[in-house]
Amino acid sequence: MPYAISRRTLLRGAFAGAGAGLLLAGCEGDGAPGPAPTSSTALLGLRFPDGFVWGASTSAYQIEGAAAVDGRGPSVWDTFSHTPGRVRGGDTGDVAADHYHRMPADLDLMKRLGLGSYRFSISWSRVLPTGRGAVNAKGLDFYKRLVDGLGDRGIAAVATLFHWDLPQALQDRGGWEHRDSAGWFADYAQVMFDALGDRVGTWLTLNEPKTVVDVGYRFGAHAPGFRDDNRAYVAAHHLLLAHGRAVQAFRASGRGRIGAALNLAPAYPDDEADQASKAAAELADGYENRLYLDPILKGAYPTDVLDDIGAAAPMRAAIRDGDLDVIGSKIDVLAIQYYNPVFVAAGGRYVSKLDTSDATWQQIHPPGFFDILTRVKHDYGDIPLIITENGRPSADRVGSDGRVDDPARVQFLRDHLAAAHRAIQAGVRLEAYHLWSLMDNFEWAEGYGQRWGIVYVDFKSQRRIEKTSARWYREVIARNGI
Ligand code: FCB
Repeated sequence: MPYAISRRTLLRGAFAGAGAGLLLAGCEGDGAPGPAPTSSTALLGLRFPDGFVWGASTSAYQIEGAAAVDGRGPSVWDTFSHTPGRVRGGDTGDVAADHYHRMPADLDLMKRLGLGSYRFSISWSRVLPTGRGAVNAKGLDFYKRLVDGLGDRGIAAVATLFHWDLPQALQDRGGWEHRDSAGWFADYAQVMFDALGDRVGTWLTLNEPKTVVDVGYRFGAHAPGFRDDNRAYVAAHHLLLAHGRAVQAFRASGRGRIGAALNLAPAYPDDEADQASKAAAELADGYENRLYLDPILKGAYPTDVLDDIGAAAPMRAAIRDGDLDVIGSKIDVLAIQYYNPVFVAAGGRYVSKLDTSDATWQQIHPPGFFDILTRVKHDYGDIPLIITENGRPSADRVGSDGRVDDPARVQFLRDHLAAAHRAIQAGVRLEAYHLWSLMDNFEWAEGYGQRWGIVYVDFKSQRRIEKTSARWYREVIARNGI
């Protein structure tokens, strides 16, 4: 039996409430007086290499809104969020942060923060409303304006092609369980390479295929909301095949570089001295990391995971001759997203050992960031790495002075950046860091209840307020260090 999953397993009814009660943060950078830095948030005097790129991340369904505007077709997340009981509070991405209508002002905000790079995703069903066929010019035009606006402001574009919002019309045809999904995705990718290839420097095919597989197909807490291991691992194979087909399309025509965004989680034994716990952690590592890293970077599935999935599992029949060559097509960059480690007891049960954020799946462990970065270098060679997500939620509120103070986020970011810095010192080829997230947004099954942004969004007025962490990050960028 495949392992328990690391993310969002405690999702429903497990909201932990207000922040972790950490000390007040200091902030500098926009001239506004802030509380003095404390030892948990003070800068550490660590400089990053010249040319290191500082950025922030978002995704289409989480911020754009305008769900039925200018010809956009529905995605699985429209369907899922409109299904009663699926998302906390019945929230949907219909309006979200209304970024579709506020994009120029949001670009100005990025510029004011000093971002060197912006990692966003493209809504497939905005460009191809039914996932295939005729292009919706208005939808495509939005992304052209976005990318031009970034260029005008000197901000690099990192475009993700799939951040979970599969066109509903394709789900109706079988979605990722259908082998043709790989071709649908490659065709869509080609449309985007043709339209934006001269302006996007870095393309990412998939965001976190593991989360789609585990949370969408096994645990059922994300779209499409299934609970079926057999279907899940067939979808995993086709997602990976889609990645490979898109990379091949890119090689034929694209400029710039391409990779995938994987959420990696170091898997530690709950008890180092217990052989059974160590073996369980090794297999958990297979499901958390190697199931995606190995096919993409080595052109082979990890045999321990395949054995565990089982010889009779439908996934095994879905793997055809030549598929692994496609999936293993050379990529130029690997995007890593780090949120948490897992601790694994004998038998495979995941154990919570550390404090979590309000996202109860997120045990906070900055050293895990160092561990996973150095491990990727050790096991997969010197491929350039970028971080495309890292962050934590907090129960942010606008204070009586109009400010939003989020010291726990500042501490989180600082401590994780210190771990990244250590990894660079150890020889890891880390080129860029994008935090999650630029702004508060629709956090999937948690709706608007979990705030992950460095910019606060008042979802009623759509007003944006820089949190303490945003002002802190501006200072980090200006110093190129923490
Ligand atoms: C990642 C997702 C991102 C957001 C953060 C909190 O897994 O890629 O969209 O939900 O978690």
